[in-house]
Amino acid sequence: MYPLIRNRRLRQNESIRRLVRETIITPDDFLVPLFVVEGKGIKEEIPSMPNYYRMSLDILENEVKDLWQMGLCAVLLFVKVPDNLKDNQGTEALNPEGLMQRAIKTVKDSCPDMLVMTDVALDPYSSYGHDGIVAEGQILNDETSEVLAEMSVSHAQAGADFVAPSDMMDGRILTIREALEDEGFQNTGIMSYSAKYASAFYGPFRDALDSAPVDIENVPKDKKTYQMDPANRFEAIRETQMDVDEGADIVMVKPGLAYLDIVREIKNEVDVPVAVYQVSGEYAMLKAAAEKGWLDHDSVMMEQLIAIKRAGANIIASYFAKDVVRLMG
Ligand code: PBG
Repeated sequence: MYPLIRNRRLRQNESIRRLVRETIITPDDFLVPLFVVEGKGIKEEIPSMPNYYRMSLDILENEVKDLWQMGLCAVLLFVKVPDNLKDNQGTEALNPEGLMQRAIKTVKDSCPDMLVMTDVALDPYSSYGHDGIVAEGQILNDETSEVLAEMSVSHAQAGADFVAPSDMMDGRILTIREALEDEGFQNTGIMSYSAKYASAFYGPFRDALDSAPVDIENVPKDKKTYQMDPANRFEAIRETQMDVDEGADIVMVKPGLAYLDIVREIKNEVDVPVAVYQVSGEYAMLKAAAEKGWLDHDSVMMEQLIAIKRAGANIIASYFAKDVVRLMG
């Protein structure tokens, strides 16, 4: 009579596997990151992110229509800012006619129901490639938060549904929330990059936006004084709890795959939706291995995304979003 329990009964064909499957990926899970540049008719491939593009506003207009048609309902906007508009204060970030502000309007005009989230941090605008204002070798916390709050209001004025602060300054969620309330944007949400690690997986993204920290004397060469130490777990809970207390509507863990223990930990700890950013380096690794014929692209892509969702992600920011929807047919 041994064994009475055979777990393989629930695996013996695809129909029973479908019936008992715990984690299912759908287009509703995705937040699609988009990189916007100045110009016309521009759709340039990012060298370290095969099949991913920087696009000008006219191309963006059609891209969001396509995404919507495919069933994708949310985008996360990033802009590549020309060098001559960069400074230490991120002044251009507040320009009502800046590229981000125009990109928000473009998406909303083209596809009014598409949810628009915007990256809020100074790095694309910073002549030093830092997320905040630099002074005497330090990244200033409170001064930066004030600028980020103004930047958030500017994005809300342009029509953003959610702002997504990715800078890791302390207390910025409260500063941003208060600024949005003061300006009448009670319904503008905040998706906070709560547990964002100082990760080498962001390399291709910094190529895409030309936003890496510069190598100048008295400017930190990395982001380790504000982004988290990859070695730390309890700190991630503290960071996330703090953002929830300050008014974050959605919290995020970043990167994805190498931090799934953190995702689960946070999912168990907070009751707001948890987003995970499967970052540029994760995308680049799979594309490169698949190009060499070393990994099966589609199977590994799905396995990774299922792992992220199984770990506790309610929302996944991923460069694979379109590939997945196409694969699902
Ligand atoms: C900007 C920002 C970064 C990413 C998202 N927002 C880069 C960084 O912090 O240096 C990384 C995204 C990716 O690698 O896909 N603060």
